[in-house]
Amino acid sequence: MSERPLSAVVLAAGEGTRMRSSRPKPLHMLCGRPLVLHVIDALSELDLERVVVVVGHGAERVTKTLQDLAPAGLMVDFVEQRVQRGTGDAVSVALTVFPDEDDDGDIIVLPGDTPLLRPPTLAGLVRAHRSGDVAATVLTAVLDDPTGYGRVVRDAKDNRVAAIVEHADATAEERAIDEINTSIYCFRRNLLAPALRRLSPENAQGEYYLTDVIEVLRTAGHKVVAVTVEDPAEALGVNDRLQLANAEAVLRGRINRRWMLEGVTMVDPSRTYIDATVALEADVRLLPGTILEGRTTISAGAVVGPDVHLVDTLVGERAVVENTVSRGAEIGDDCQVGPFAYLRPGTRLAAGAKAGTFVELKNADIGAGSKVPHLSYVGDAEVGAGVNLGASTITANYDGVDKHRTRIGDDVHTSIHTSLVAPVELGDGSETGAGAVVTHDVPPGRLVKGVPARDSRAAGPKSREDGANDPDPGGD
Ligand code: UD1
Ligand code: CA
Repeated sequence: MSERPLSAVVLAAGEGTRMRSSRPKPLHMLCGRPLVLHVIDALSELDLERVVVVVGHGAERVTKTLQDLAPAGLMVDFVEQRVQRGTGDAVSVALTVFPDEDDDGDIIVLPGDTPLLRPPTLAGLVRAHRSGDVAATVLTAVLDDPTGYGRVVRDAKDNRVAAIVEHADATAEERAIDEINTSIYCFRRNLLAPALRRLSPENAQGEYYLTDVIEVLRTAGHKVVAVTVEDPAEALGVNDRLQLANAEAVLRGRINRRWMLEGVTMVDPSRTYIDATVALEADVRLLPGTILEGRTTISAGAVVGPDVHLVDTLVGERAVVENTVSRGAEIGDDCQVGPFAYLRPGTRLAAGAKAGTFVELKNADIGAGSKVPHLSYVGDAEVGAGVNLGASTITANYDGVDKHRTRIGDDVHTSIHTSLVAPVELGDGSETGAGAVVTHDVPPGRLVKGVPARDSRAAGPKSREDGANDPDPGGD
């Protein structure tokens, strides 16, 4: 095996016309990660000297996204192909980044639109390329329906690759070939550069085809061989929304399979949608209609679903989350959320807390074991431990101009229909009567009632002080 240095070129300058989108094709999302990043991720098993991404259409956005999301430690260079004159031209532009064209080295070329490619496949391609004295190794696939792909024409005598013919340029006989070009190659760099200069755009699409390099190399007497990928799904290119949906389905299947093998129960994997960026622990149980996105993490023993949509949400051990939407929230161990809760960014439920039915929480800390069981909005609030907020307790956090905070101490109980007009503080162990509109701070251990709420008596069981006919506090 040779020790030639290895680099990679990713082609992502094309307009992606067939997507019919204002979003550059490399940035279309697939299981929560942009298309082109799935391709970059497939490089993970290789020891690369450099990675060059050719950008063009939407160059700025594509570059920015890659800089933000590329795996840490991977150095990516960007080069702009100003006019998209074809895949051959794109590679020529990429090669301008390499200082000395005579330097020996191998170069992997891959399109930015084959997201199902797996790291071991690329590693195998490089191994095969290095084990023989070849100018180029093409990754091919045998497809049931090769329509639209470049066809691999083999030499009848030595079975090596003689040429690649694009679908648009192929004869009926060539179109009958079911072995296709995945557009993933490994080249000897010092043979590639001169071959690219021999390309001409005299073809059906008027482009400089990278695929024509194969015939050029072959004619110059170099060897070109093929490696055929075992799982043809890896070859799937994403050119339109149908292929995008197909690729997403395959990728989702792989993600679900991986988590099930790691100990996650999915009652119906076909109705369980997990982004590539999500982390799960063993003995998590996912019920149908669960959608997990972004940096969501679910800890051991938690039960999530049915019909739960979590974005960037942490779920603690043994927590139960049903029929809920949550973004940017932290749900502690043994918490209970839903059915029909909405957690917004900055919500934190400490261990054993409950956010129940028709409850919306935003930027709120709910203390250990505290309950917001029904019909409440709690925003911009700190709630202590052991609190029960009665049904329909609402923080009035917005005065039309500014947002204000509500502070609720430990062991506070509010009755049904309590309005907390922020800024306001309820001391430890305080209580409110039904329908109270609390506009002033409540000292610890006191009960307030009325509109606006006034001090009534010591908090605690009724009739101790004034025998008043307090309604039962709402809630469990
Ligand atoms: C290409 C191959 C075809 C192969 C198929 C596999 C060529 C001529 N054809 O066809 O043999 O079967 O991939 O999926 O190579 N790009 C640029 N600059 C350009 C043109 C394209 O960067 O000027 C990029 C695109 O952004 C894309 C990649 O190159 O990521 C491939 O281009 P695309 O137009 O999708 O090629 P296909 O028609 O799919
Ligand atoms: Ca393509």
